[in-house]
This record gives sequence, C-alpha cells and structure tokens, in this order.
Amino acid sequence: MQKVVCPGSFDPVTNGHIDVFKRASDISNEVVVAVLVNHNKAGLFTIEERVELIRESCKHLPKVSVETFDGLLVDFCRDRGVTAIVKGLRAVSDFDYELQQAQVNLQAGVDTMFMATDPAHSFLSSSLVKELAKYNGDISKMVPPSVEAALVKKLS
Ligand code: PNS
Repeated sequence: MQKVVCPGSFDPVTNGHIDVFKRASDISNEVVVAVLVNHNKAGLFTIEERVELIRESCKHLPKVSVETFDGLLVDFCRDRGVTAIVKGLRAVSDFDYELQQAQVNLQAGVDTMFMATDPAHSFLSSSLVKELAKYNGDISKMVPPSVEAALVKKLS
C-alpha cells in the first residue's frame, strides 16, 4: 500500500496505538497518524500536546508522520491521497462501531483495513490509562515513557 492513515483521538497515545502504527508502516510506504480536532470534546491533553507525544513516541518509525484533521476523515484522505484507513480491533465490542464507520467511509470511496490488536494490548485504551494514572496505578507498560511523564505532570 502507498499511503495509509491511522485516525483517532489519541488522548493520549498508548503502546497499543504505536504497535498498530508500526505494523501499518511494515506493510505500507507511508503512515499518517491523523489526530481528530473534536470541537465538542476537550479531552485531557490539548491537540498540540497529543501530536507532540505521538511524534516523540514514533521517533523510531521513519515512515510515520503526524497531522491533525477537522471534519470528515474521507475528506482528509482525499486531500492527502491516502489509499486506506488502518484501524486496530481489540475485541468484538469494537466491531459494531468500527464496521459502521468503515462502511460509511467506504460509501465515500475510502476503504478500511482492520488490524487485529496484539493480545498484549487487547485491554488497553486511552481512557483506562487515564483512570489508572489518576489513582497512581502502574501504567509503565501501557504507554511510552514520555506519555507516562506527561500524564503524571498533568494529573499531579
Ligand atoms: O480514537 P477514536 O475517538 O475512536 O477515533 C474516532 C475517529 C477519529 C476515527 C472518528 O471519530 C472519525 O473518523 N471522525 C471524523 C469524522 C468522520 O469522518 N466520521 C465518520 C463518518 S460520520
């Protein structure tokens, strides 16, 4: 595949996301991580902080770049000449929502490839990491060191 996009909120990025970026870059020429600017939901980290944390965490992945997008994902894909959307599927519970999104995007001419999440990360989510960090839980194996440090700073 030429150029693929990994879209999401990434508030913040986790090791599960990074595993998908890495594996997407193994099977394509270029991976654009697209961070959604959601005007209805503030989130814990600002968009700029999320982008910076992803860039820092993906320094070892030369084919991966990070951008933001506002509006429809299919418009972003068209503007950037993206071949396909790549998303990780953790469990059956992800499937209904992801299938619906994929089918809407397919109607607009953009295909989606689902990647089975590594079982080591199948329980992982940004929300879970934030919850654990809030109560001083151990998140060292769930997020890169820069994200762990940013969470500790943000929540202290
Ligand atoms: O990490 P998330 O929050 O599950 O990511 C969801 C995301 C950003 C992939 C999805 O909400 C999205 O693509 N939003 C952009 C608007 C859009 O194109 N929606 C699909 C058709 S209505």
